[in-house]
Amino acid sequence: MTYVMSKEHEDLLAVTNTDAESAIHTVTNNADTIFTWDYEKGARPALNKLYEKAKGAMWDGEKDLDWSINFDREESARLNGIPNAETLAELGVDIKGSPFAKWGEKEWLESELESGAWALSQFLHGEQGALVCTAKIVETVPWIDAKYYAATQVMDEARHVEVFSKYLDTKVDSYYPVNPHLQSLLDDIINDHRWDMTYLGMQVMVEGLALAAFGNMMNQTHDPLLKKLLRYVMSDEARHVAFGVLSLKEYYAELTEAELFERQEFAYDAAIRMRDRFQRQEVWERMGVDVRTAIRTFSASDPNDDPFQQLLFAKIVPNCKKLGLLDANDGWLRKKFQEMHVIQFEDHVDTEAEYELLDAVSADRESGEL
Ligand SMILES: [Fe+2]
Ligand SMILES: [Fe+2]
Repeated sequence: MTYVMSKEHEDLLAVTNTDAESAIHTVTNNADTIFTWDYEKGARPALNKLYEKAKGAMWDGEKDLDWSINFDREESARLNGIPNAETLAELGVDIKGSPFAKWGEKEWLESELESGAWALSQFLHGEQGALVCTAKIVETVPWIDAKYYAATQVMDEARHVEVFSKYLDTKVDSYYPVNPHLQSLLDDIINDHRWDMTYLGMQVMVEGLALAAFGNMMNQTHDPLLKKLLRYVMSDEARHVAFGVLSLKEYYAELTEAELFERQEFAYDAAIRMRDRFQRQEVWERMGVDVRTAIRTFSASDPNDDPFQQLLFAKIVPNCKKLGLLDANDGWLRKKFQEMHVIQFEDHVDTEAEYELLDAVSADRESGEL
């Protein structure tokens, strides 16, 4: 069955960044800043354990990554296979009659390299989103153990911004401004006045998806520097997602069904936005292809049936289950995730337990590599 996208959806997806020149972007932060006089450390033992772990798990991008490695990105793209009319047809994408029909190997290779630069650029901007959101959590969360942990995450995110920025700057000769769909999601997360929504939007949804996306890039790249950079970033990200799940589990157990419904809607909205709207719009624009035409050409199949898109939810679904969000309100979110064909991940390992497995820094210290 051919998938037909509505005109409204196509209009929305055709939006690209039109503000590439500004050096800053301002968002209103509506939340209260909270002091606590309850300094009892370890009142929440799991958060305290995570905090103690984080203090010892900090790596240094300057010293612990080998920036002298110079890697041929073209070679890496070739090893992974450059798309062409036949390979795209196998994926259900028909380029006949589109501007892509005129493309030869040179253009497809260029679009692969640009797409890699676009993805890394969006990782960079997303990392800054995490830096800002977590600084906000330091201010808004009422528990001292959570303020302590969030402070370590602020430092982690600063290092992530630093290493992605340096990698783009020194190893990739292309850079993209923030995708407007990513920016609007980050804005909505920061704008919300409820302290738990920062966690739900950033730690559970955005970082949950990022963990899957980083893992995917780590498996695909042949560059040893980028592989190690992503491995170290992922080791931190798994802890960050665990922080979100641990903090919200306690809070959500106290909420009413009506309050939980607001969280379910928020999670679903973020899921749909992350899955459907990040479509390399700026790459097509830079390659001289009309964005609307590119989106129409590449939207040949239903996103619900795309196994790569489904995999991005491997971390999010079990974590939502752990928080009680799948089954509240007669399983409202469960039904939505069923429609998205991602419910099969509900019993996958949740990240509350997984951060120990992804702890690359401890592993490298034990083996003497760090
Ligand atoms: Fe990060
Ligand atoms: Fe993070």
